[in-house]
Amino acid sequence: MGTAGERGRFVVFEGGESVGKSTQAAWLATRQGAELTFEPGGTRLGQELRRLLLDGAGARLDILSEALLMAADRAQHVAETIRPALEAGRDLVCDRYIGSSLAYQGYGRGLDVPTVRLLSEVATGGLWPDLIVLLDMDPQRARVRGTGGSDRFEAMGMDFHRRVRAGYLELASADPARWTVVDADRSAAEVRDDIAALVAERLGWA
Ligand code: TYD
Repeated sequence: MGTAGERGRFVVFEGGESVGKSTQAAWLATRQGAELTFEPGGTRLGQELRRLLLDGAGARLDILSEALLMAADRAQHVAETIRPALEAGRDLVCDRYIGSSLAYQGYGRGLDVPTVRLLSEVATGGLWPDLIVLLDMDPQRARVRGTGGSDRFEAMGMDFHRRVRAGYLELASADPARWTVVDADRSAAEVRDDIAALVAERLGWA
């Protein structure tokens, strides 16, 4: 918890499919007594948007519509959950955020990355995380160890997932003050130890 009167800290986990993001986000939130949330679908309205975005039935969704729906989900999530928590001084851990739109809709789908960034800037009022942890892993290896789900993104080919990974790495190297990259192709315990060390260093979270 942040000290009374101070804004809470905002940490985001990013990465491709089946890299262990949700497990690590949940672990950190519990350890830190932080609120845990996720995108898409972190609000009631967002649950509806998530269904449209991930269901096979939405397979014909235009890619710009997809980006706008992700941004709408994010706007609602910031307004309803993220900003109120941070302003009340509560720390917050979020599973995916702006970086997912840049990596998936920008680098993955091929939309203009600055345009995708602008949509998220508008949706969030420019609210960026204090720290973004990128769990990086070869998507082919992640697929082997994954649950084999088949939502609209999981069903995309390896080329798509390679572009997403490369996009994430480019985003992280362009903004090292905000992003940090963790090698996710190791045991959950090893990854967790790295995360513990880096939140201690970056945020003073013991
Ligand atoms: P998530 O529930 O985190 O799935 P997973 O556990 O497989 O990572 O996210 C659902 C999917 O939505 C995931 O494939 C990434 C995609 N996504 C985007 O394409 N853009 C976005 O802005 C967000 C938040 C998610």
